[in-house]
Amino acid sequence: TEARRILGIDTSCDDTGVGIVELAPDGQVRVLANRVWSQTVHAQYGGVMPELASREHVERIDDILQEALKEAGLALTDLHAVAATSGPGLVGALLVGLMYGKGLAQALGVPFYSAHHLEGHIFAAASEALLQTPYLALVVSGGHTHLFDVPAPGRYDLVGATRDDAAGEAFDKIARLAGLGYPGGPAISEAAQRGDPGSVPFKEPLQGQQGFDFSFSGLKTAALLAHRGGATPENLAASFQQAAVKFLVKTTVRAARALGRRTVVVSGGVAANAALREAFQQTGLNVVFPGKGLNTDNGAMIALAGAAALQAEKAPSPLTVGAEAYAP
Ligand code: KG4
Ligand code: ZN
Repeated sequence: TEARRILGIDTSCDDTGVGIVELAPDGQVRVLANRVWSQTVHAQYGGVMPELASREHVERIDDILQEALKEAGLALTDLHAVAATSGPGLVGALLVGLMYGKGLAQALGVPFYSAHHLEGHIFAAASEALLQTPYLALVVSGGHTHLFDVPAPGRYDLVGATRDDAAGEAFDKIARLAGLGYPGGPAISEAAQRGDPGSVPFKEPLQGQQGFDFSFSGLKTAALLAHRGGATPENLAASFQQAAVKFLVKTTVRAARALGRRTVVVSGGVAANAALREAFQQTGLNVVFPGKGLNTDNGAMIALAGAAALQAEKAPSPLTVGAEAYAP
């Protein structure tokens, strides 16, 4: 057998992502292309407008596919499978990539795999070889803060989740409060370099909990009070980032110990955060992060999920599979 090439599409929110990965017979994987069109029309509304997101996906997806093929130096006929996100996400937005992927697979006569967006985020950390179970997976993005135990391929046991805001959402809201712009994660990370992380005291959320849940609303309120009290954006950014990172790392390490896991996958947009990466690297655990451009929403991570399905010789998804706003 020869290497197979899988196309992945993600249109779950406001990014049109198309990626291509190569799966070698021995299970080695390589990202050949990863093109993302990040929609900017939403900036003027201060949040993602679902209907506008769908329309932009429709307008862009052809071009992004062509860019991805060009980056990989491939033609459509070089593809062996197509994967697309079916959920969770904005239904109208999801439908664009899902239907496009199904149609493409049908036209090319190759298998189609629907993918779960969070599984995609986790598989984004598969840089050379596909991930080996068991491991713990922390998905920290703008919409999710989920901690999964993954004891075997395809099995995801939720061991903790946020009780209020997602981690990335907290970065975004506090950045907006401090006037640091959008998206908040990179802005906070940048401003934090010029601030004093000890200047604003933040109480650790959910102190003393037995489980592995997360909560960011307390940090958000504390940030608001500190802002009103005259804390500078830089000091607020540095202090909040330190508190959020400490909380995420501590909870994850506790879970890893309790479940006896040595490997932790940290993915999603917030996994791009340098302070978070540094703190995780000091835990002594085997921590795996996605490579550059694979943390935030993209198509390559969905192609990697498709590659894992192919490698596991999973049956292709029926073309009747629909988009799901809330996918368990
Ligand atoms: O995974 P993603 O692109 O979209 C969702 O599926 O939600 O994640 C986007 C989130 C945003 O909230 C953004 O502020 C955050 O990831 N983010 C970061 C960084 N880069 C992106 N948060 C902290 N530090 C960063 N460097
Ligand atoms: Zn995402």
